[in-house]
Amino acid sequence: MDLDTFTWLLTDDGQRLLERAAHLYADDHGRNVGGKQRTDLLAVAAAVRKVEPDAERAAAALTQVQLRVKAVAKFGEDALKMYFTPDGLEQATRHRVATHRAARLAAARPSSVVDLGCGIGGDLIAFSRAGLTTAGVDLDPVRVAVAQANLDALGLGGATMVADSTQLDLAGFGAAFADPARRGARGRVFDETGWTPPWSFVLDLLRRTSVVKVAPGIGHDLVPEGVEAEWVSDDGEVKEASLWSPDLATARKRATVISGEGLVSITDEDDPHQGKERPVVELGKHLYEPDGAVIRAGLVTAVAAGVDGGLLDPHIAYVTSDLSFRSPFMKSYYVIEELPYREKQLKAALVERNIGPITIKKRGVDIVPEQLRKRLALTGDVEATIVLTRVAGVGRVLHVRPF
Ligand SMILES: C[S@@+](CC[C@H](N)C(=O)[O-])C[C@H]1O[C@@H](n2cnc3c(N)ncnc32)[C@H](O)[C@@H]1O
Repeated sequence: MDLDTFTWLLTDDGQRLLERAAHLYADDHGRNVGGKQRTDLLAVAAAVRKVEPDAERAAAALTQVQLRVKAVAKFGEDALKMYFTPDGLEQATRHRVATHRAARLAAARPSSVVDLGCGIGGDLIAFSRAGLTTAGVDLDPVRVAVAQANLDALGLGGATMVADSTQLDLAGFGAAFADPARRGARGRVFDETGWTPPWSFVLDLLRRTSVVKVAPGIGHDLVPEGVEAEWVSDDGEVKEASLWSPDLATARKRATVISGEGLVSITDEDDPHQGKERPVVELGKHLYEPDGAVIRAGLVTAVAAGVDGGLLDPHIAYVTSDLSFRSPFMKSYYVIEELPYREKQLKAALVERNIGPITIKKRGVDIVPEQLRKRLALTGDVEATIVLTRVAGVGRVLHVRPF
């Protein structure tokens, strides 16, 4: 979608087409085609083309409808009023994560915030909604137009502009935010080369009042002195890390866990074992599986202290304790018994217990749960969860019950 087409989409005629396309899509959506629920996109596209003969405009309207539907997972109901580009949606921060960051920044009461690479406005919206005076810039004119349209559609204030953040005079802004576009920074591998704006720009930015979103794989050694790194998970999945400049930092490392039940945070300040040897203990009555944000932040010993427990193995993120706790930072399991680690004996033990459907968890062992499940070929009636791990180099299997 080019800028002209998007600008047209915002006119009265464009809005009428968008509404019509949404109806045509909804009418067709979930239709039973050959016994399967699906949308016949070609048929919808043809129907939209009957309303709007301009191919580009028709395609842009239908794409918006599809992207809005897809974006509900990230933005909730707001998505149905918003505008997207496919990449812009892909890169946008999830609503709950952006809202947390914006609330935290707003609590520091900066006079304003500039979003240096605002994309379609995922973070920009959250800053504005948190009551901050907000400006967003991006190199890409379409994204800038989309971000502005999103602020307008949601009735939020804020200015946007096409600009190169590396050339911008930031003196007039109370705080800056950056979410650099990254290549190869997904998952476990963190690669700070090839960022736009570059990593050197991020390091400079962190010398002023700022917050920078980075990939969760960032190494602790890359976090500059005085800067706080906050790892954030949403619904059990680690989404990102934020680097908070020294004047906004309240800890060195923080794990924030967001779920439908709310938000909790833990820091290195809460960890009696920071800088000391990790507390390793014998298997207790309960096993705890820390959230990914806690693990990435290196705060497993902090959450272990919270349940008066320790680690089963100093290098593996399983916590054990005799005490039974529910913790938002960890999944909790009751340890029923220990089972043999050797596969033949393990299978015999599971068969003896009439176990069928089985959840296999593992950490620190080279086993593919799916393949093990197939090999075990259990046919019993009883559901079970087993945990495969290593303690001091020795494989162990725990039969557990989630609570
Ligand atoms: C990861 S996206 C931002 C997503 C945004 N935080 C959101 O939630 O929607 C990064 C954005 O930075 C922009 N960008 C990259 N280099 C830039 C530069 N030097 N100046 C301005 N924008 C830049 C890209 O065009 C892209 O839209």
